[in-house]
Amino acid sequence: MSSGIRFDSVSVAYGKNVVLDGLDLTVEPGEVMALLGPSGSGKTTALRAVAGFVRPASGRVFIGDRDVTSLPPHRRGIGMVVQQYALFPHMRVEENVAFGLKAQKVARAEIPGRVADALSMTGMAAYAKRFPRELSGGQQQRVAIARALAIRPGVLLLDEPLSALDAQLRSGMLAELARLHRELPDVSILYVTHDQVEALTLADRIAVMDRARLQDCGTPQELYRRPRNEFTASFVGNANLLPVSVGVGSVSLGGAEVKVDTGEVAAGVSATLCVRPHLVGLGPGPNALAGTVTEVQWRGATHRLYVDVDGQSVKADLRELRKPPSLGEEVTVHFAPEDAVLLSAGVTHD
Ligand SMILES: Nc1ncnc2c1ncn2[C@@H]1O[C@H](COP(=O)(O)OP(=O)(O)OP(=O)(O)O)[C@@H](O)[C@H]1O
Ligand SMILES: [Mg+2]
Repeated sequence: MSSGIRFDSVSVAYGKNVVLDGLDLTVEPGEVMALLGPSGSGKTTALRAVAGFVRPASGRVFIGDRDVTSLPPHRRGIGMVVQQYALFPHMRVEENVAFGLKAQKVARAEIPGRVADALSMTGMAAYAKRFPRELSGGQQQRVAIARALAIRPGVLLLDEPLSALDAQLRSGMLAELARLHRELPDVSILYVTHDQVEALTLADRIAVMDRARLQDCGTPQELYRRPRNEFTASFVGNANLLPVSVGVGSVSLGGAEVKVDTGEVAAGVSATLCVRPHLVGLGPGPNALAGTVTEVQWRGATHRLYVDVDGQSVKADLRELRKPPSLGEEVTVHFAPEDAVLLSAGVTHD
């Protein structure tokens, strides 16, 4: 059963407080969409609107071509995993996984096979008789995923499913989720996270939310290389965001003239130049800027330099730097014109 998700101008309010503001977003059948954004931006609310746990003040929610806006949660054909494991503590693993099947009135004879399938898919077949308290955090989360998959949902909603796990377990589970999706290529997944690594690793596309609104949406590469606004630029990856004034085919940054593609940005306006720190080089080159080193941080694989250029702090992440410059040293940094993106209010890059 393959079905996408569509938000059509969905708004949710608690009292006068609008926490989801006119969300338009489509998750294609079989696609993994990450919903990325800071705390309180409305991610869980969007998920709950799909699940049916919150009713939109306006707009419609579609699963496949079915308008589910008024359907109760159990009739929407979705599997959901929430941040805290939320297993039933008094039920064994197999009973937890069978729970949704019973609620859906699946034929009694079919249930044990479906439970066994879901548990083996998540690597938990050997734990069927245990109680949740006899499992580690990662194992409990696998059971929660098995429970969501047992009903063979067309749509899987995951709300920060890895946030309760430590970093090492998290990256292992991330690989497992990717494998699971390869085994179930028809399932559409909406994956809420505030962790950009999870979003970049797992998602086909990322929807970036801030303050109840969708700010940007695109493939991880698009958002990273051509962010539409400062929020996306700084939330997806690291960014130098440098105030500049725009000329024709170039901008001025402090006293220096810098070549970039100014696109549709009109000459004369103020804008922000986004350059990724790992694309900034040390020494002479195109778009060279003279500055003073204000900080040097060793980060294992790279050195992070902070260089003051006319009062702007420019970050550069440099590999293979045998002899880093010293504090206060006069240096030149540079970047290729094609590695800079000009951001201006009201201008978007598609
Ligand atoms: N039941 C509720 N009643 C009133 N306000 C609520 C309710 N649930 C959520 N909110 C508010 O809605 C806003 C969005 O909440 P939501 O849970 O969607 O954020 P989130 O993006 O998932 O954040 P986090 O990353 O912290 O989980 C927040 O300001 C929150 O306080
Ligand atoms: Mg949340």
